[in-house]
Amino acid sequence: MLENKNIVITGAGSGIGRATSLLAAGYGAKVVCVDLTDGAEETAAEIIAAGGTATSVRANVAEEAEVEAFVQTCVDQYGRIDGIYANAGVSGGRKPMNELTVEDWQRTLSVNTVGVFLAAKHSLKHFLAQGHGAILCTASVAGLRANAGGVDYSASKAGVISIVQTTAYQTYGTGVRINAICPGLIETGMTKPTFDLARERGKEDKIGQINPMKRFGQPSEIGEMACFLLSDRASYVNGQAVPVDGGLSSSHPWVYPRS
Ligand SMILES: NC(=O)c1ccc[n+]([C@@H]2O[C@H](COP(=O)([O-])OP(=O)(O)OC[C@H]3O[C@@H](n4cnc5c(N)ncnc54)[C@H](O)[C@@H]3O)[C@@H](O)[C@H]2O)c1
Repeated sequence: MLENKNIVITGAGSGIGRATSLLAAGYGAKVVCVDLTDGAEETAAEIIAAGGTATSVRANVAEEAEVEAFVQTCVDQYGRIDGIYANAGVSGGRKPMNELTVEDWQRTLSVNTVGVFLAAKHSLKHFLAQGHGAILCTASVAGLRANAGGVDYSASKAGVISIVQTTAYQTYGTGVRINAICPGLIETGMTKPTFDLARERGKEDKIGQINPMKRFGQPSEIGEMACFLLSDRASYVNGQAVPVDGGLSSSHPWVYPRS
C-alpha cells in the first residue's frame, strides 16, 4: 500500500506513532521516525531488524527549526517526502478548568496544535513543488465533543480539525491532501495512568465500555487507518476528521446497560 512512499511520522517513539511506523514500513514505506525521546531510535531499529527501511530523528515538534530539519532529513535521505503524519501529542494532564494556568495552555497548544501546523507548513513546501503529498494529523474525539480530555487538550484537538479543514481549501487544486484521525480510547503511553488506575481498582473490565464495540482500541487499529489515509488508496479523501473510536462519537448521551 505504501511502496515507494517516504513518510515522516512524529511521536514515533510510542503508542500510535510507533504502531503506525511499524505498519507503514511493513506496507513498503521508508519511514523517518521522529520523537522527543530515544523511542524514535528504538522504533527505527525495530523496522530495520524486520527488514524495512527507517531512520530516526530526535526532535521537538513545537520548535520550527527542528521541524524544518526533520522534513529535510527525509528529502536528503530518501530523495523526496510523500507524506507526513503529525501525530505527536501531550495529554495536558486533564486538570480541571479552574486549575489550568496560561503556561498549561501554552504547553498543550504548542505541541498538539502548533506542532501540527509546523509539520504541515514545512512539508507543504515540498508537496506544492512536486504536485502531490499527504498530510495526516492526529486529532481526537476530544476535538469533536466534551468529556474526553481537559479544556486545553480538547481545544488543542479542535484546533487540529480546523487546521485540516482550512488547509484543504488553502491547498485547492494542488494535489495535496490533508486529513485527521480522531481516535477514541487507545491503550498507549498517554493513557497508561487511566489503565493503571482502573487495573489497580480491579475495574479493567469497565474500560472502553461506553462505545458500541464495548472495548478500548489498540494503537495498530489507528495505524491501519493512518496508512490508508497516507496512501494513494485514499486519493479522494481530503479535509476530513475521521473518527476511529469503536462508534463512540456516533451517539447522543447514553447510559450503558449494567448487567
Ligand atoms: N491514546 C489515546 O486514547 C488517544 C486518543 C485520542 C488521541 N490521541 C492522540 O494520539 C497521539 C499519539 O499519542 P499516543 O496515545 O500514542 O501517546 P504516547 O504518549 O504513547 O505517544 C506520544 C508520543 O509523542 C511524543 N511527543 C510528545 N511531545 C513531543 C514533542 N514536543 N516533540 C516530539 N515528540 C513528542 C512522546 O514522546 C511519545 O513518544 C497524540 O496526539 C494524542 O493526543 C490519543
